[in-house]
Amino acid sequence: MKQFNVGIIGATGMVGQRFATLLENHPWFKVKVLAASPRSKGKTYEEAVGSRWAMDVPIPESMKNLIVYDATADIKEITSQVDFVFCAVDMKKDEIKALEEAYAKAECPVISNNSANRGVDDVPMIVPEINADHAVVIETQRKRLGTKRGFIAVKSNCSIQSYVPALTPLRKFGITNVLACTYQAISGAGKTFETWPEMVDNIIPYIGGEEEKSEKEPLKVWGKVVDGKIVNESDISITTQCIRVPVSNGHTAAVFVSFKNKPSIEEIKKLWAEYKAEPQELGLPLAPKQFLNYFEEDNRPQIKLDRDLERGMAISIGRLREDSQYDYKFVCLSHNTLRGAAGGGVLMAELLAAKGYLD
Ligand SMILES: NC(=O)c1ccc[n+]([C@@H]2O[C@H](COP(=O)([O-])OP(=O)(O)OC[C@H]3O[C@@H](n4cnc5c(N)ncnc54)[C@H](OP(=O)(O)O)[C@@H]3O)[C@@H](O)[C@H]2O)c1
Repeated sequence: MKQFNVGIIGATGMVGQRFATLLENHPWFKVKVLAASPRSKGKTYEEAVGSRWAMDVPIPESMKNLIVYDATADIKEITSQVDFVFCAVDMKKDEIKALEEAYAKAECPVISNNSANRGVDDVPMIVPEINADHAVVIETQRKRLGTKRGFIAVKSNCSIQSYVPALTPLRKFGITNVLACTYQAISGAGKTFETWPEMVDNIIPYIGGEEEKSEKEPLKVWGKVVDGKIVNESDISITTQCIRVPVSNGHTAAVFVSFKNKPSIEEIKKLWAEYKAEPQELGLPLAPKQFLNYFEEDNRPQIKLDRDLERGMAISIGRLREDSQYDYKFVCLSHNTLRGAAGGGVLMAELLAAKGYLD
């Protein structure tokens, strides 16, 4: 595979730090540029991150002395040094939209963890094991933006990264209704227990905007491409409650589901065990060997035991059983800053590189 020079926009943040550690020894992608807000400009990466470093490994040696750029003011310098960028910034939606379009229009593809462009029908929102085929809409987007190389591809919200994978192979039975309650880690808000001490011994029953994303985004991921644009799935009704819990990393979901044609428990478990998709077939560097993992034990999946399964890129599922109101219920878990954020972004970039979209 060709080698790519890459940048991380929002490198000092929680997701940016994850990108830095995941990309340190990546076989295809080499980090050349780090960028953040004007507050970080001109500092070394180590100085800019300061006491915010929240990973359990040290700051990558190859990056700690890189001078951090201003993501907006330095676009020209940044895009002249890289083949594409990963982007995870905490800015207003319209500012993120403008920033991502500016990179794309400078012919620099953007692999985004932000929500600003997720609703656009020619911006693919790719979970590589589910809807790799949506990448074709990049051609429509390039026409709209007037670019040859530049485009934006987005990752979906971290809250849906456990239950959408688990439900995907079951769609052939005609899913009608889904109810999901998510129990979300504090790193999903860019926080640690040090920076958010109020979360120790606490639960907050509200995460701004999360329930809307958790109900809408699966319908785009499950959508189909019609005339070069994504048309959302419209036959499935989803309702959610999203709750912040005192967990450092890992989002859990309790899921209830009904079908037009109710499968058996054995059929469901077999589909989960046998599920494979393009990332596994292509042998992408960050792809988990086994994407969906069912645990028979009643007390699994557990945050501490299972969130790091397959480098935090696998989905853990357990407690599948019949329900008195829905057909079935089960519990699932994914690592929110790995599979749910930076890891999912890197895997998407690997997929797009393998398909030639980053040439
Ligand atoms: N955490 C998760 O699990 C997760 C999952 C999925 C998606 N996301 C999304 O990823 C994005 C980042 O989340 P996070 O948790 O990493 O946030 P965070 O820890 O608060 O980090 C925010 C980053 O944005 C940068 N930034 C702030 N204002 C900026 C500006 N005006 N120009 C350029 N950069 C600016 C910050 O730079 P400075 O250090 O210079 O201020 C920092 O690098 C958000 O859109 C979030 O919704 C997060």
